[in-house]
Amino acid sequence: MKIIEVENYDQMSQAAANYIIEKVKQNPTLTLGLATGGTPKGTYEQLIKDHGENGTSYEKVTTFNLDEYIGFSGEHPSSYRYYMDEQLFHHINVPEAQTHIPRGDSKDMEQECVRYEKSIDDHGGIDLQILGIGSNGHIGFNEPGTKFGAKTHIVTLDESTREANSRYFKSMDEVPRFAISMGIASIMKSREILLLVSGESKKEAMKQLLCGEVTESFPASILQLHPNVTIIADQQALAEAKDFC
Ligand code: PGA
Repeated sequence: MKIIEVENYDQMSQAAANYIIEKVKQNPTLTLGLATGGTPKGTYEQLIKDHGENGTSYEKVTTFNLDEYIGFSGEHPSSYRYYMDEQLFHHINVPEAQTHIPRGDSKDMEQECVRYEKSIDDHGGIDLQILGIGSNGHIGFNEPGTKFGAKTHIVTLDESTREANSRYFKSMDEVPRFAISMGIASIMKSREILLLVSGESKKEAMKQLLCGEVTESFPASILQLHPNVTIIADQQALAEAKDFC
């Protein structure tokens, strides 16, 4: 795993955006895996800024998002489809039909898992997957204990994940308990992975990722076995890892 250390969140966002823009320029038909949450927000802001100022085109780019809450349609303001539309898609020139997010409101969620995994494969797989990491080591919504062999599947969210995400809801009761997520195996099929990590709340997770063993109880640890991972992390996130390994 290659590590790029930056000073803070803004630098992480700028570095990540530059990285993605370069890939899109090299390959205008790039298939990009995308993430939601607080971490990539600044990166998306920078992509939008660059699109406005420099005209980087996403017309032929295809995107696949990692996950979605079950029970929410794309119109729900807390859905990840809504987040992506608001934070990125509506502000760049990617055609909507080329943006893929699991459907959280499908009548048959098992079938939706199969359909989503197949649509990634049918498209030829993901060239560059953007990832964040949960403080419990989750990637996508693959919580600790998820089998490394898992493909797109239905997950029960950890209480720690629900608490971390409750900032986007009026109360804990509103935070969904279930989600659909690309599995670990789906993520590992990506040809390249860009992991973004910022802030003190992630320092234990970074320590475990960089210094710990590969174990299903810490899902992100599987990334140690991927041949092409770049991590852009800020100093706060790297604080513990530097001292211990
Ligand atoms: P965050 O979430 O970017 O909101 O910290 C990351 C994650 O849970 O994967």
